[in-house]
Amino acid sequence: MWRAYRDGWSNVAACALLACLLLAPLALRADVLIRFSHVVARDTPKGLAVERFKRLVEQRSGGRIRVTVYPAARLYNDLDEMEALRLGAVEMLAPSLSKFGPIGFPEFELFDLPFLFERITDVHRITQGDVGRRLLASLSRQGLVGLGFFDNGFKQMSANRPLRAPADFQGLRMRVQASRVIAAQFRALGARPVVLAFSETRHALAAGVVDGTENPVSNFWTQRMNEVQTDLSLTQHAYLGYAVVANQRFWDSLLPADRAVVTQAMQEALAYGNAIADAENERALQDLRAAGTTRIHVLSPAQRAELRATVQPVYDQLSTRIGAQWIRDVQQTLSR
Ligand code: SIN
Repeated sequence: MWRAYRDGWSNVAACALLACLLLAPLALRADVLIRFSHVVARDTPKGLAVERFKRLVEQRSGGRIRVTVYPAARLYNDLDEMEALRLGAVEMLAPSLSKFGPIGFPEFELFDLPFLFERITDVHRITQGDVGRRLLASLSRQGLVGLGFFDNGFKQMSANRPLRAPADFQGLRMRVQASRVIAAQFRALGARPVVLAFSETRHALAAGVVDGTENPVSNFWTQRMNEVQTDLSLTQHAYLGYAVVANQRFWDSLLPADRAVVTQAMQEALAYGNAIADAENERALQDLRAAGTTRIHVLSPAQRAELRATVQPVYDQLSTRIGAQWIRDVQQTLSR
């Protein structure tokens, strides 16, 4: 009896041991898939930073965590990608900051305020300081986890004419991202803002649906907008950057060790993105000069000052939407 009992138990133990041996590698192999969608080309600051993130995560997790990148709006464009993230159809995105306003985060539109930042180091005092931390934390309101900010750079204006003074903008239809601040900026300049997805912009310019647009040179060049715009004016009038966001349910489902790998890899990828952004925009400008398709106009300080004065009313017009306190906090930080 005892023997049968003992043999029974040793069989159970043997089975349990066998199950552990069989299942352990499975547990270790428990693949995590991160689907990362974005709308720009691979050879842009964002495209390169996301590729770096993928490489770091896959190397450090020994391939257990896989990152599939869908660039150039191949999977979703602008607002669809936000919906896809909320529904869990993708795990991560890096939308431009202007794309958070329409989904219920108007405070992110403060980054669109024209002539708010003179240098990229000023932007970093906001994104890497208290304001940036609070903005990322606010994303939890809608089940999003904010993992950090990174740069593309300063936007320039393009059209089939130079855009050096407010008079040059009169009556132009300008493609904009869905940000009320950007729309107000163009109205103040006498142009008509037309909201279009990034992936539709080149086609709309080619078809004459819109006359011009604004973007950092890296986006302008990699979308081949130079083939459909004769003039690029280096206005440096506002910033374009990104926030990396993850779906909260996905984030909570990660093992703590995996979450640490992803967090660390993302921090390094963001630092890498910031380190190369300026050079990527400079390289795109050189390529654009070499292509000879587009006249490039450098603005004088007086021309920039006139544009700046013309768009100044945007601050008051949009202060309620953004939140006057957010604007004050940014201005205080920048004045220190
Ligand atoms: C991006 O850089 O992600 C797109 C910017 C835009 O829509 O203009």
